[in-house]
Amino acid sequence: MVSAGHHGGRTAPAPAERYGETLFVRDTPERRRLELLQEVFDPHSVRTLERVGVQPGTRCLEIGAGGGSLARWLCGRAAPAAVVATDLDISLLDTVRADNLLPMVHDVTRDDFPAGSFDLVHARFVLNHLPERDRVLERITEWLRPGGVLVVESFSWFPLDSSPDARYRKALLRWGDLLRDTIGTDSRWARNYPSALARLGLRDLGARTVTEHLRGGTALAGFWELTVDMSKQQLIDRGYLTPREYEDFTALMRDPDFWDLAPALTQAWGRK
Ligand SMILES: C[S@@+](CC[C@H](N)C(=O)[O-])C[C@H]1O[C@@H](n2cnc3c(N)ncnc32)[C@H](O)[C@@H]1O
Repeated sequence: MVSAGHHGGRTAPAPAERYGETLFVRDTPERRRLELLQEVFDPHSVRTLERVGVQPGTRCLEIGAGGGSLARWLCGRAAPAAVVATDLDISLLDTVRADNLLPMVHDVTRDDFPAGSFDLVHARFVLNHLPERDRVLERITEWLRPGGVLVVESFSWFPLDSSPDARYRKALLRWGDLLRDTIGTDSRWARNYPSALARLGLRDLGARTVTEHLRGGTALAGFWELTVDMSKQQLIDRGYLTPREYEDFTALMRDPDFWDLAPALTQAWGRK
């Protein structure tokens, strides 16, 4: 019943639940996981945000702001303009000390903003988790003023497919399958971001995919260890991984002699 891979164009069954219900619950390990994610990926995101340009006065929307590090960065660059930082759960945004931060409980699939409200809209590791991702991309583009910039970022799974290490490959692919089957995550969609942005009529398109080497014992490995650990019970109880497969993966993530390519980060941007 469990398959490594994706739907290959078949109609996906309706997901059983939403992000945050039993997967990605905002508990203490999840907070730590988000910190590691920020530590590893913020330099890549900042490089792209600097490239598209964030100046004093840029009205920013940070969607699914999570731990808030990028909202904090945007606040520093865009002041005195407000940075609206949305999430289903904004509790971690309390630590962001910035007068121009506007935290907002807001579900990007349902809640709205007036058309043309923002100069910059950014979402990292959010759209891939939403089954209605194409519709959401369309909606968030409406929130940009003409000339405003959209920046989206998500994981691309492809480096896993060619991994020579079956333990590493299987654990992460199965974890991806669990997410797909439970909340409708698509970890293979982001490589097509540029085409999706082109279909929306955005101009000055750009895209970059970064594949980092993962070494056991590093922050990147710690992030993936915590990520799989978050779903340990479901992975084992629902037959995605055996306890042994789970333990093997954890050991690899702690072994400084283990090296492989991590899931890639795909970024894309375009102007309305
Ligand atoms: C993997 S975390 C990434 C957090 C942050 N964007 C980052 O990259 O550091 C995904 C975030 O999206 C939020 N999220 C998930 N579904 C959402 C929705 N429908 N509307 C708004 N935020 C959502 C989650 O609560 C979580 O904070």
